[in-house]
Amino acid sequence: MAESTGLPERWARFVGWLDERMPLTKTVEYHATKYYAPKNLNFWYYFGAFALFVLVVQIVSGIWLTMMYVPSGDGAFASVEYIMRDVEYGYLLRYIHSTGASAFFLVIYLHMFRGLAYGSYRQPRELLWLVGMAIYLVLMMEGFFGYLLPWGNMSYWGAQVIVSLVGAVPVIGPDLMQWVRGDYLMSEITLNRFFSLHVVALPLLLVGLVFLHVVMLHHVGSNNPDGVEIKKHKDASGVPLDGIPFHPYYSVHDFRALIVFLFAFCVVVFYAPEMFGYFIEKPNFEQADPLKTPEHIAPVWYYTPFYAMLRATTFPLLGLPAKFWGLIVMGGAVLIPAILPWLDRSRVRSIRHKGALSKWMLAIFVVSFLVLGYLGTIPSSPTATAAAQVFTLLYFAYFLLMPWYTRAERTKPVPERVT
Ligand code: HEM
Repeated sequence: MAESTGLPERWARFVGWLDERMPLTKTVEYHATKYYAPKNLNFWYYFGAFALFVLVVQIVSGIWLTMMYVPSGDGAFASVEYIMRDVEYGYLLRYIHSTGASAFFLVIYLHMFRGLAYGSYRQPRELLWLVGMAIYLVLMMEGFFGYLLPWGNMSYWGAQVIVSLVGAVPVIGPDLMQWVRGDYLMSEITLNRFFSLHVVALPLLLVGLVFLHVVMLHHVGSNNPDGVEIKKHKDASGVPLDGIPFHPYYSVHDFRALIVFLFAFCVVVFYAPEMFGYFIEKPNFEQADPLKTPEHIAPVWYYTPFYAMLRATTFPLLGLPAKFWGLIVMGGAVLIPAILPWLDRSRVRSIRHKGALSKWMLAIFVVSFLVLGYLGTIPSSPTATAAAQVFTLLYFAYFLLMPWYTRAERTKPVPERVT
């Protein structure tokens, strides 16, 4: 009679069979059970996990929306209405996806802020930071292309404003603009290419970049609020003294926080999915109309700091129109965090040990970003423009003066071990 084996043995045999054919156990150990994360990670370290979660939510809800969405000039708006009114739980799918977009940016901005505060961009994490910046750019494009798809009037005119910026590029601008649109004006052709980029090209790129991001993170190891390297102090078996295995310690910790996050997310989805016009703008409940410009065109909140900078650039220079310089300022503002690893000359990594100047500059940066975000949502006026000009300067000052103030200030002593 064959000897009967219990489930655990059979499972172990199955895993053994898999291990001979792929590095399963090794991968799980490397990325989870033997990945030692600093034991002092705090609240700010939740947002990477949240971002991963939202990425999955967006992909899954997006796949389902695509089943019912029609990417044509006649069909787009109507199909979204159909999803909202006739498809069972279609409204839920759409609101999950639209709220997910805002949640993604919220989480990413907090994730990036943590990087600024704790100097996570510094050696040896420069490449991790640069990949993060690439993710951020792709995410911005993903949001922009997605916003055209409901073919509402704000979709149409918002895209029109941004695409027309390309036209301000000297010499090739008008041709470039036509190439981007694929037509002489925003049309179904533009909608089709934005659709294909939004549902195929950019999500693929995003997933690839996020994979790279996590691989790089696990290669160099996590930074922490003290900004000290935990790999410097290891026990006899090579385990960092200040590290704890990611699984189960942080996996359970993150899961608990995720439930709280999910709760807040559901409150928005069920009770305020339009968020008073900040997540879904009012004119987007009307179909795109090339003959009717909305009274006040503003992008969704996550682009408004940069939009305010664009509008704040009101002066032509060197024979080039203000619009061109607006494009440069806006692009510069988005890209400048990429060079942070080379701007920060401080002896210490974390804001905890930096001096007063760094703390003030970080606070000024945050206030500028928030105020510009607000200014980007309101109609333009001379006062708003003047304020946006001041805060644009302050925004750039945080970055451009960094080589100076990070060296000039007195820093606090850094502890040998995490606190
Ligand atoms: C889809 C977007 C993203 C996902 C899914 C993601 C995921 C993660 C995860 C899971 C971690 C580890 C947990 C944590 O530290 O919170 C992490 C760390 C990190 N991420 Fe991201 N991230 C994304 C975007 C970004 C962006 C836009 C940047 C910066 C431009 C960035 C920069 C970093 C840095 C520097 C770390 C290491 C932080 C430290 O150890 O102190 N990430 N990311």
